[in-house]
Amino acid sequence: MSDWRGKKSFDDACQWLSDPVKLGGELVRGVGAELERLGLDLSTVRSLAWSNAYIHLPDAFASLGLPDTPTAFCPVPQAEGTLLARATSIASLAAIGLDAVSYGSENNGELFVNLVLMPGEGLYADKSRRGMKGHTDAVSFPVRGRVDEARQELAPSPDFVCLSGVRNPDGVHTTVMPLKDVLAKLESGQIAELKKPQFIIRSQGTFREGMRSILGEEHVVDGGEFLFEVEGQTWVRYSHSSAGVEEEDGPAANAVAAFESACKQSAIEVIVAPGDVLLVNNRLGLHGRTLVAGEPGGQSRWLLRAYGLVTEGLVASQRYKDSPYKLFP
Ligand SMILES: [Fe+2]
Repeated sequence: MSDWRGKKSFDDACQWLSDPVKLGGELVRGVGAELERLGLDLSTVRSLAWSNAYIHLPDAFASLGLPDTPTAFCPVPQAEGTLLARATSIASLAAIGLDAVSYGSENNGELFVNLVLMPGEGLYADKSRRGMKGHTDAVSFPVRGRVDEARQELAPSPDFVCLSGVRNPDGVHTTVMPLKDVLAKLESGQIAELKKPQFIIRSQGTFREGMRSILGEEHVVDGGEFLFEVEGQTWVRYSHSSAGVEEEDGPAANAVAAFESACKQSAIEVIVAPGDVLLVNNRLGLHGRTLVAGEPGGQSRWLLRAYGLVTEGLVASQRYKDSPYKLFP
């Protein structure tokens, strides 16, 4: 990272962030060379990424020269620390074979957003404070390799969620629930229920407004699966708050209840400290967060978030023409 940052002016370096695919390609060469020096290679790192629910990279960048914590998803303040956080996130995603992507329907397609306490009342302010139960991100979108039956132009949900730590004064935990640990607590009949296309999945809250303006309505899957068999692995999409079953009783409802309780028992707590990058596999794990205390702004908790996806299989209608990273909708 320091090789890349080198003697570039701050503005020059910021300019690179506007084409994350190009920047990722540039940075991954340096990462590959560094791995080689350690007797490793990129393919080892990639297989690690697809056999674990998360990879925690402590002290991956220097969180320098920072302004007060912002109080909204965007914009990300331009500062040396956030530049390094973003470039390191793009490098980390590129190292595991992913492009950094965003969705036009969430935060206007911003590639990086602030995860911070938000002032006032309402859905976002309330959610910014509360603990978050296990979920996968962009939950109503199909997993990679599948299509949404009703809307084939929807891009897949991200393969990875990338969090970088800017501030975390109280050591708030990010929780990760590895799917293999969750499934080990379930009976085979319950797993079979979760694979049936019988669930209702609403858009994640942050996408709803954008969906309504782009698609004319919120995207809802009526008859979706929570578990998928892909490439010899079981993948998940799920959200405690946005997904569920119509009938309150019966085998599907029982399977969901058992799944939720297994998630709770499988949570691993990770502190994303300043300078850390956490790559969460959005297929092989669920993630959440413990309660965030304190007041917005100032020195309060501040993470940046980006998504990563294996983009090879995407078609033109799943992208926006004017952006190298923004996906539809
Ligand atoms: Fe999330």
